[in-house]
Amino acid sequence: MADGMLEGKVIVISGSGRGIGRAGAIIMAARGAKVIVNDVGAGLHDQNLDQLPAQEVVDLIRKAGGTAIANYDSVATWDSAHKIVQCAMDTYGRIDGVVNNAGILRERMFYNMSEAEWDDVMQVHLYGSFNLSRAAVPQFRKQESGAFVFMTSTAGLFGSIGQCNYSSAKMGMIGLSNVLTLELKRYGIRSNVLAPGASTRMTQSTAANLHGGEEANRKRLAALPPESPGAMMAFLVSDAAKDIYGQIFGARGSDMMLFNHPRPLRYLHRDGGWSPESLAEALPAFDGLYTKMARGKGVIPWDPPTIE
Ligand SMILES: NC(=O)c1ccc[n+]([C@@H]2O[C@H](COP(=O)([O-])OP(=O)(O)OC[C@H]3O[C@@H](n4cnc5c(N)ncnc54)[C@H](O)[C@@H]3O)[C@@H](O)[C@H]2O)c1
Repeated sequence: MADGMLEGKVIVISGSGRGIGRAGAIIMAARGAKVIVNDVGAGLHDQNLDQLPAQEVVDLIRKAGGTAIANYDSVATWDSAHKIVQCAMDTYGRIDGVVNNAGILRERMFYNMSEAEWDDVMQVHLYGSFNLSRAAVPQFRKQESGAFVFMTSTAGLFGSIGQCNYSSAKMGMIGLSNVLTLELKRYGIRSNVLAPGASTRMTQSTAANLHGGEEANRKRLAALPPESPGAMMAFLVSDAAKDIYGQIFGARGSDMMLFNHPRPLRYLHRDGGWSPESLAEALPAFDGLYTKMARGKGVIPWDPPTIE
């Protein structure tokens, strides 16, 4: 049944017991990848751990004739993230791709956010992506190949309400991927970023979806299966993407997007430098260029189709 697009590749996907990671794991295994299905099985609001989600994905993959192993170590600390990579090496003897997908939410308005809520999200998303990628990179360098995928979010790219911790961590993915691209391309190592949109436990739990018109959002979300970003993950770790690095993609239902990187829009030079007064005088030159802050349809003006 495998069509071979990922034949022989060993791919670690963090947080692949549920949602987008789960879809990616199943898609990759069906194309010949050996998958490390990593998931601590976190609760929605706590870290009450559960091995079932990862094990179920592995059972499904094996039943379909694929190859996978469950791993329950957390990405959130250096040591446990290294165990995830060790699991790939011990089980399959190599590692070809790392998808930094594990995630949690702790939503709160900025003025109410606690240090613990800030830290928890940073720990899983930003530290977790660093820990897991850092654990894999010595092997990638040795073999002079490897692919990283980082998961960002429009919550970071456009901004979001009630998600200052998450949005900050998600923009961190872009900084990290930019640097890995510049540092590691010479070793044949690629890094790309994906902003997904999918109906998962995470999105079903957000304040926006719980309180922003439940029926309309249920329909909107139902049209966004996790298989769509899952397919993009699989493409990005495959050799079909061997010339693609340092990019930011979006995958939402039937829509695929390529985002730009921030680059200067206009350039002003003043001999002798600038003072606040000379800036006040000159900066009308930027009028009309300022980014209008918006979310949702204010940025991506078309809606995915809804399913009745
Ligand atoms: N669903 C969307 O529309 C959407 C939008 C933007 C970004 N994302 C990002 O995509 C990724 C996947 O999200 P999802 O919607 O599938 O969420 P999900 O909640 O369905 O799955 C995330 C998984 O990560 C696991 N996890 C949490 N902490 C972990 C840890 N420390 N170590 C290992 N695993 C851990 C959880 O147990 C869970 O199974 C996340 O990074 C998320 O921020 C999702």
